[in-house]
Amino acid sequence: MSDGQADIGVLGLGTMGANLALNIAENGFKVAVHNRTTSKAFALRDDNPGIGDNVLPTETLEEFVSALKAPRLVLFMVPAGKLVDDEMARVTPLLSPGDVMIDAGNADFNDTVRRSTAVEATGLHFVGMGVSGGELGARHGPSIMVGGARETYPLLEPILAKIAAKYEGEPCVAWLGPDGAGHFVKTIHNGIEYADMQMIAEIYGIMRDGIGLEPAAMAKIFIDWNTRGLASYLIEITAVTLAETDPETSRPMVDVIVDEAGQKGTGRWAVIEAQKLGVGATTIEAAVSARGVSSHRGEREKASALYRDVEIETSRFGDEADDIAEMEQALETAKIIAYAQGYATMAAASEEYGWNLPLGEIARIWRAGCIIRSRFLDDIAKAYDAGSVVNLLQAADFVARVAAAQMALRQVVAKAALVGIPVPALSAALAYFDDYRRARGTTNLTQAQRDLFGAHTFRRLDKDGVFHHRWPAV
Ligand code: 6PG
Repeated sequence: MSDGQADIGVLGLGTMGANLALNIAENGFKVAVHNRTTSKAFALRDDNPGIGDNVLPTETLEEFVSALKAPRLVLFMVPAGKLVDDEMARVTPLLSPGDVMIDAGNADFNDTVRRSTAVEATGLHFVGMGVSGGELGARHGPSIMVGGARETYPLLEPILAKIAAKYEGEPCVAWLGPDGAGHFVKTIHNGIEYADMQMIAEIYGIMRDGIGLEPAAMAKIFIDWNTRGLASYLIEITAVTLAETDPETSRPMVDVIVDEAGQKGTGRWAVIEAQKLGVGATTIEAAVSARGVSSHRGEREKASALYRDVEIETSRFGDEADDIAEMEQALETAKIIAYAQGYATMAAASEEYGWNLPLGEIARIWRAGCIIRSRFLDDIAKAYDAGSVVNLLQAADFVARVAAAQMALRQVVAKAALVGIPVPALSAALAYFDDYRRARGTTNLTQAQRDLFGAHTFRRLDKDGVFHHRWPAV
């Protein structure tokens, strides 16, 4: 295949692909684009005067590949799963050794490892790359988590550093490790995103059902919270969504939206991988489960009637200003715990797969561009800069913050439980914290039971070795 002019090719022009291609073009790179519906490729050039000059639309895959400079960089932005394999199979025969295929969509990192092994064996390269920031991020600066063979990164870096979000001038992109490392980190990013969003939704639930606030009043509170420790994109958009009015009914927009959450799978992947690694990512798990429960609306409506008269306390929330201040502290504390779980999952994966993940660097590239971007991520980066971190809950700054605010989380969870408002992620955070800080746990009893019914053995506190006890017959 002859060499062309384009610095990179983008295959798949859905929302993310089209916006990423425009971002690349705007930054002065020539980008060849291709899509199954080819008119989209031409529209991308024609509808974007100026920027479009750097967009090279192509009719066929052959034309697309021959439009690229060698070594060719082919970036796939297609939905996760079989479609990625299908598109890769179509492109592979057109490539030459040294060319690079980049999967920039969300992917199950197990698929990325499989693809990476297969592709690298052929002399081509494969890069699994997480891109976060939604439509606007893709267009004006996402956070980019790169995996794959290290030697391919210098080929991509000049483009990625330009198109990535910047935090105080530093581009939010890094090579994080071989094969599936980039997509694994993106999966944990999304798991944390799920936990963050769920915990915010639980606080909204208390504001609505426990205190009786209207969305517009809640919006003001979130705007205020966004000026302090909780400052983040997700808190900012919470305020925006709560302040919005439905043009059709003039009611608050959130009040007309059905309470059934969608999910595309990344949160679930995060939980599955944490479980496989033996890490408790309970806040993420609670968030994924809550979306599942939410999707059975009809069943919930029936249950609501069945349990209408169960005894619960009518009110536990008193002074509004005090309650709001307590919730702010509770949310901050639970957030630290959720991030500690996400980071613990990445640390365990790094160990298991020999990735040597740069955990501090990951916090740095999440400070801008991605959905969980926040001031708080700079604190995490600083904790890693300060020395080795076993778990964020053991880093000095976070120990002090959690110790000072944990009572607020306890109060919020307890009050919510008494009045019957579900707070699964907040209470998972609290339970994990109490479990984590308890030197003597209760699984000694679990071990005794296992040994009784299955001779699974146990270890003793007072001497080394593995033991089996002759328990009374039951
Ligand atoms: C991002 C997001 C993105 C994700 C959406 C929707 O980092 O830009 O995480 O990758 O696809 O947030 O995810 P769900 O549909 O699963 O909520």
